[in-house]
Amino acid sequence: MRRPIVAGNWKMHGSRATVSDLLAGIQEGMAVIRNVEVIVCPPFVYLDQAASLLSETPIALGGQNLCQVPGQGAYTGEISGDMLRDLGCGFVIVGHSERRNIYGESDDLVAAKAIVAHQAGLIPVFCVGELLEERESGETEKVVGRQLDALLETDEGLAAMQHSVIAYEPVWAIGTGKTATPEQAQEVHAFIRQRLAQASRDLAEKTRILYGGSVKPGNAAELFGMADIDGGLIGGASLKAADFLAICRAADS
Ligand code: PGA
Repeated sequence: MRRPIVAGNWKMHGSRATVSDLLAGIQEGMAVIRNVEVIVCPPFVYLDQAASLLSETPIALGGQNLCQVPGQGAYTGEISGDMLRDLGCGFVIVGHSERRNIYGESDDLVAAKAIVAHQAGLIPVFCVGELLEERESGETEKVVGRQLDALLETDEGLAAMQHSVIAYEPVWAIGTGKTATPEQAQEVHAFIRQRLAQASRDLAEKTRILYGGSVKPGNAAELFGMADIDGGLIGGASLKAADFLAICRAADS
């Protein structure tokens, strides 16, 4: 059985005050959540504050990005995986479509980040997903397959994948209110699992594949009910404690 995950990607939102309020609100509702791994990913500058507030709770912490270079060095503006570990992170999102599309992160760079995250002791949340025009031209599997292969095709990458979580996020569904139907999502999740099975059947069986893109309290249960959907990566709805908790409960089976 794959334990479901619900991860909140706060993106560039929050202040010291709202971080405290939001985390207090989430903690209040955690008592009834039994079998879901709950993760929050605040902006870098609030990770330390979040780590102190979460230290006695089951809620795990993740970064939203990391540098492809380990340790320390002359990389102005960057944050390393080792620094994220030092602050108490267990996870890090890599290759979010906003990183790929706004900041031009290539498949190779994303794969390098996943490898360095794994080597730093973090669990990468490896994001894949197609643009609207790619879906409309029937290229979803080609694009998602290529994004996965960038990590699967090297030994180091395969080692990182063994300890990763995958998030399938169709770019056209992110922040648009336009969710993939459960069937559309399931189809791609099954494709991803099949691709993993080409590398190893055990890897395919154990890897948790999250869906992301306009997940809300009203659609979460249906999505999480699909065979290959093991939870969600939540943007907008993770900024409201009540909505985030409702999504966590929907994943709790
Ligand atoms: P959304 O974002 O839930 O606001 O669509 C999801 C994501 O970008 O991870």
